[in-house]
Amino acid sequence: MLQSEDVERLVAAARSARERAMASYSNFSVGAAVMCADGRIFEGFNIENASYGLTICAERVALFSAMVAGCGGVEAIALVGPGAEPLSPCGACRQVMLELAPDAEVIMAGDEAHLRRSVRELMPNAFGPEELDRT
Ligand code: THU
Repeated sequence: MLQSEDVERLVAAARSARERAMASYSNFSVGAAVMCADGRIFEGFNIENASYGLTICAERVALFSAMVAGCGGVEAIALVGPGAEPLSPCGACRQVMLELAPDAEVIMAGDEAHLRRSVRELMPNAFGPEELDRT
């Protein structure tokens, strides 16, 4: 579990990333931030495309950017969307979190509240890498 100062720092990074979201088609701006075990923070925002299906969510941008930079382990991922209520990550991002950040905490933030859950809580009965050992 992240200390409360780190939660605030990570949510602030996600909020700042959200301001740069490229969400001109949906107008639904999302920001995310990943905290690595070494304390580094990587930001992401949703990047939309005129070919809508090519859009990528903020969480995956932040996670992939952390991987490229050699993040040794993800401690936490924060995401912030529009409105007062916490934003819940989509199913595709949950699957990617399970692969790249299986032990991470997810901080889902809105303007007035946030919710904290583990990746495993968000992915019950998941299909994960260990299933591939069945072959
Ligand atoms: N979106 C995210 O960035 N993260 C989520 O977890 C939910 C959805 C983005 C994708 C798209 O650009 C917009 O929000 C509307 O679906």
